[in-house]
Amino acid sequence: MDPDTTLEAARERIAACEDASALKDLERELIGKKGIVAAMLAEIPKLPPDERKTHGQKANALKQSIAQAIAERRADFEASKLDAARRADDFDPTLPPPRAPRGSLHPITQVTRELEDLFLSMGYEVLDGPEVELDHYNFEALNITKDHPARDSQDTFYCDEVGRLVLRTHTSPVQVRAMENREPPFRVIAPGRVFRQETTDASHDHTFYQMEGLVVGKDISVAHLIGAMKTLLRGIFGRDLDVRLRPGHFPFVEPGFELDARCPFCLSTGKQGCSVCKKTTWIELLPCGLVHPNVLRSGGIDPEQWSGFAFGLGLSRLVMLRHNIDDVRHLLDGDVRFLEQF
Ligand code: PHE
Repeated sequence: MDPDTTLEAARERIAACEDASALKDLERELIGKKGIVAAMLAEIPKLPPDERKTHGQKANALKQSIAQAIAERRADFEASKLDAARRADDFDPTLPPPRAPRGSLHPITQVTRELEDLFLSMGYEVLDGPEVELDHYNFEALNITKDHPARDSQDTFYCDEVGRLVLRTHTSPVQVRAMENREPPFRVIAPGRVFRQETTDASHDHTFYQMEGLVVGKDISVAHLIGAMKTLLRGIFGRDLDVRLRPGHFPFVEPGFELDARCPFCLSTGKQGCSVCKKTTWIELLPCGLVHPNVLRSGGIDPEQWSGFAFGLGLSRLVMLRHNIDDVRHLLDGDVRFLEQF
């Protein structure tokens, strides 16, 4: 008997079995003590000596393949029995439940938690602030008056007719809230969701995430700011990176900067410019600066005695950078095909 055709035929018959007892009978017939394979093995002594070995090996391999096919079919029967029992009227609550699909943390949650840990280790407090914010905290107390042109660059969702309530356009309002109920010196971060009335495209969404940082103390200078930002970079990218400051204008800081860091992707590949840094070898990391005296005053802190620095890290942007995501809208559209990659 040819083992190949025998296996083929056996598989067909195994598949055709309708229940476990038919399968049991077939098992006996095929690989039982008096079964087909046993008969093949019994023939061995009658064969010419040079054929015995291969014949024996083939018969044993056949036996194994058949045993495996039978085991799989038996598992099928078990599974459908369980399934039927679960659906039956006399539902048995002691049966094992079907396993629930398991999710994972959103990449923004992951990066937020990492940064919270990092800043907690540096003695910062983690704060929360309202997403529906008073115009006072979102603009006025941050040195952005009603007619200030900076309001134009932060297209705002207003929540009432008189323009007193807004969806916060940045996490900076938490700066003033923090000052109001703390005595300096202190250090805080405030991660959270912010909103802008944007026409969405690959790099703009109406909802995104930032993390505000604020340090108030004696004689705080730009050197402290740079030091803290270098520690932040080490935490994010796992290595020391050179930074540079360019002037940047935000009414609540003076002087204000855009902080760039050496492109970590170029450094690790030895390239002089890549797609992430748009061939410049620098990546734009975050806006920052020394807290404007008017803002300290709004928070009830005397600018003659205290000074501070603040920064605004774009968490959505950071996640895009880290995972090479090309469209910010993926972050919030809730598509599992995107989410299950993290
Ligand atoms: N709040 C600013 C923004 O969203 C960023 C910023 C924060 C700038 C802190 C300076 C200091 O555009």
